[in-house]
Amino acid sequence: MPKSTVTFMCSECGGESLRWAGQCPHCQAWNTLQEFQVRKSGPGRKQAAAAQAPTRSRPVPLSQIESEAAPRRSLAWGELNRVLGGGVVPGSVVLVGGEPGVGKSTLLMHAAQQVAAKGGRVLYASGEESPQQIRMRAARLGPLSSGILLLAETDLDSICETIRAEAPEMAIVDSIQTVTDAGFEGGAGSVTQVRESAGRFMRLAKEIGVPIFLVGHVTKEGAIAGPRVLEHIVDTVLYLEGDRRQELRILRATKNRFGSADEIGVFAMGEAGLEEVSDPSAALLSNGAVASPGTAVVVVLEGTRPLLIEIQSLVNKIETNYPPRRIASGMDINRLLMLIAVLEKRANISLGKSDIFVNVAGGIRITEPAADLGLALSIFSNTRDRPLPDGLVVIGELGLAGEVRRVGQLERRLQEAARHGMTRALIPAGARAGRHTGLHVVEVRSLAEAISAAFLSPMKSGAFVKEPEVSVP
Ligand code: TYD
Ligand code: MG
Repeated sequence: MPKSTVTFMCSECGGESLRWAGQCPHCQAWNTLQEFQVRKSGPGRKQAAAAQAPTRSRPVPLSQIESEAAPRRSLAWGELNRVLGGGVVPGSVVLVGGEPGVGKSTLLMHAAQQVAAKGGRVLYASGEESPQQIRMRAARLGPLSSGILLLAETDLDSICETIRAEAPEMAIVDSIQTVTDAGFEGGAGSVTQVRESAGRFMRLAKEIGVPIFLVGHVTKEGAIAGPRVLEHIVDTVLYLEGDRRQELRILRATKNRFGSADEIGVFAMGEAGLEEVSDPSAALLSNGAVASPGTAVVVVLEGTRPLLIEIQSLVNKIETNYPPRRIASGMDINRLLMLIAVLEKRANISLGKSDIFVNVAGGIRITEPAADLGLALSIFSNTRDRPLPDGLVVIGELGLAGEVRRVGQLERRLQEAARHGMTRALIPAGARAGRHTGLHVVEVRSLAEAISAAFLSPMKSGAFVKEPEVSVP
């Protein structure tokens, strides 16, 4: 048993404290501090380490350092390679997080089959499901390959030894919350266990050059259960998102030591597991190009790629004296509340006696303010029961004064809109974009101008010049 001291760590933010408290002093979350053991380095340890490394490291000129030695391993799916930053880096540790049932095991089994199909060997260590269950899933996804080795094990030492002995092309640990180190107290999934295991996998991966994928279940709040602290340890953090009842799954990189950290990959879950979706805009728009009151199309940027997304709003007058409900699915509720306040003040409509529901199609989550104006127009459109013009895409951030703010990469967003058959666009004034896309582009300075352009005056290309006249139909 290693010598250890006890401190406490927050399972939400990973912050450490010496004393237990009901509330985390770092992130103010309640009841999240868990006992956590730190291995003490005794005097013998330091000497042993010194004996192992007789020569001290010396500084080396940057220009003389060799570039990354081993090439990345490309998987069959371009969507997966993109999120990983161009393929699997040997010796890297990748955390794949997501809510239970979203498809993490399925995704990694696909990856395993792709490596095996090229003659590589993959070790799949699972403490979640029985080998029979894993076999059943694998059989649905593709041919059963002898290149995939299954290990039903939860003991950290045994898993590490097997990875070392087999030296596979790729190792998968499903999930990190089931792995326990017998040398520590605390059950599987506790902060101590999860952190210690991840640290060990990290050292092992670097030492033998095998990439290791760790599955991590996420709690409701969005932190990897027991704990965020994993994110600091591993090289790459990917989250698999999506509504379980819907097809689309987004794999989002939130940290990547070997590539861009805000790339996404898009997949669809079907009968035979996941499929990659290389043209997500088409998939997202397919269900309703018909203009209806309350529907607006926006373009948001996810990493380097623009996505066309449909937003729907439903505004319902209520007769009771209960406070009106505001329900947002696929976007931040506070952003919605802000946009409602801006609409009431700047577009002169009264929403205090109406329930408002907003839904983003396809189970996508919008995080970009560039969708503000589209969202506001979709609410306005439903309130007035008038559809937005056919083929219109709306781009712009809204400020509290009702001004339309510029957004990044406008030209690329407009190109994506044109590529998918949109014919006109409302964009922030002064952006001078879209000249060559073939779209009718109207520049607007404010919410009022946008409303006039969309609902009142026939849309003509160019800057919006007429004085805003807002109180409409
Ligand atoms: P799974 O990969 O087990 O999720 P996780 O490991 O993240 O908990 O995926 C489970 C879900 O995926 C389950 O609800 C069923 C669905 N699924 C399909 O729809 N089709 C398939 O071919 C497979 C294998 C799973
Ligand atoms: Mg699973």
